[in-house]
Amino acid sequence: MNPSNEAEPHFQGKVALITGGSRGIGAAVARRLARAGVNLVINHRSGRGRSGELAEALCREAEEAGVHAISVPADIGKKDAAGELFSKAEDEFGRLDFLVLNAARAPFKPWEKLLERDLRQLVETNYLGNVFCMQKALDPLSRQGGAVVFLSSLGSRFANPDYPLGSMKAAMETAVKYWAESYGDRGISVNAVCAGLVKTDSFKTLRMVDPELEKLPERFFLSPEEVAGVVHYLLGPASDVIRGQTIITDRGVSNRLRWPTPPG
Ligand SMILES: NC(=O)c1ccc[n+]([C@@H]2O[C@H](COP(=O)([O-])OP(=O)(O)OC[C@H]3O[C@@H](n4cnc5c(N)ncnc54)[C@H](OP(=O)(O)O)[C@@H]3O)[C@@H](O)[C@H]2O)c1
Repeated sequence: MNPSNEAEPHFQGKVALITGGSRGIGAAVARRLARAGVNLVINHRSGRGRSGELAEALCREAEEAGVHAISVPADIGKKDAAGELFSKAEDEFGRLDFLVLNAARAPFKPWEKLLERDLRQLVETNYLGNVFCMQKALDPLSRQGGAVVFLSSLGSRFANPDYPLGSMKAAMETAVKYWAESYGDRGISVNAVCAGLVKTDSFKTLRMVDPELEKLPERFFLSPEEVAGVVHYLLGPASDVIRGQTIITDRGVSNRLRWPTPPG
C-alpha cells in the first residue's frame, strides 16, 4: 500500500467495516478504501491462523498509508459475534459510514450431497450473517448516512451444479433491493456488485470440483483490484443516485449464451 496521496474528500476520515476483509476481494477493497483515506474495520472469521495474520498485516499496511485500521475476528453467522463486531467498531471509531458485505463460505458440491451442516453453513454465513450485520449497521449508518455494498456472483442467475451458494446470492440481491427501499430515507444507499471469476482462495476450491473452469481463457477473469474498484465506485458519490442495483462486473462474459471454444 502506498502512502496515502490519493485521499478523496468523499471518503477521507470516514470508517468502513469489511466482512471477510482479510484476503481475496475483501482485502483488495480494504486497500482501495485505505488509499482513499478511509479508516478500516477488517473482519474475518477465525482469530487463529493465516487469515488472522493476513488481517493484522493489512492493518499495518493501512496504518502506513495514513489511516487507522483494526482487525476483528468474528463469525458473522452467529448473531452475538456479529453484535460484538459492530460494538468493537463503535468503541474504536464512534462512527460507521460504509459496510461491505463481502464474507462468504460455502460447500462446493451438488445439492443432493449437501449435509445438514452444509446447508446450515450456507444459510448462516451467506444470508443470516449479512442480515445480522445490516441490522447492527443501521443505527450507526443512520446518524450521518452511508453506503452498503454486497458482493454477489454470477451464480445468482446462472446454474452451476456444484455452487449452491448461488441461491444465497440470489436471495441477497433481492434483500439489497428491499434494503435500498427500506433505508433510503435514512440516507443509506444499498447496492451489489455481481462479480465474474476472480482467482482467489475460494476459486482454487471451486476449480477442484469443476476442472473445466481451469480451461477458461485468461481474459474471462477479473482481478480482486478490478472488483474493488467497482465497490469503491458504489460507495462513492454515485451511491446517491444508484440505489438497490446489482452491477454485473464480469468483463461481459455473461452477455453471451455461447463462446467460441478456446484453442487447445
Ligand atoms: N472469487 C470469485 O471468483 C468470486 C466471484 C464472484 C463473487 N465473489 C464473492 O466475493 C466475496 C469474496 O470472495 P473471495 O473469493 O475473495 O473470498 P475468500 O478469498 O474465500 O475469502 C473469504 C473471506 O470471508 C471470510 N469469512 C468466511 N466466512 C465468514 C464468516 N462466517 N464470518 C466472517 N468472515 C467470514 C474469510 O475469513 P477466514 O479466512 O477467517 O475464514 C475470508 O476473510 C464473496 O462473497 C464471494 O462469494 C467471489
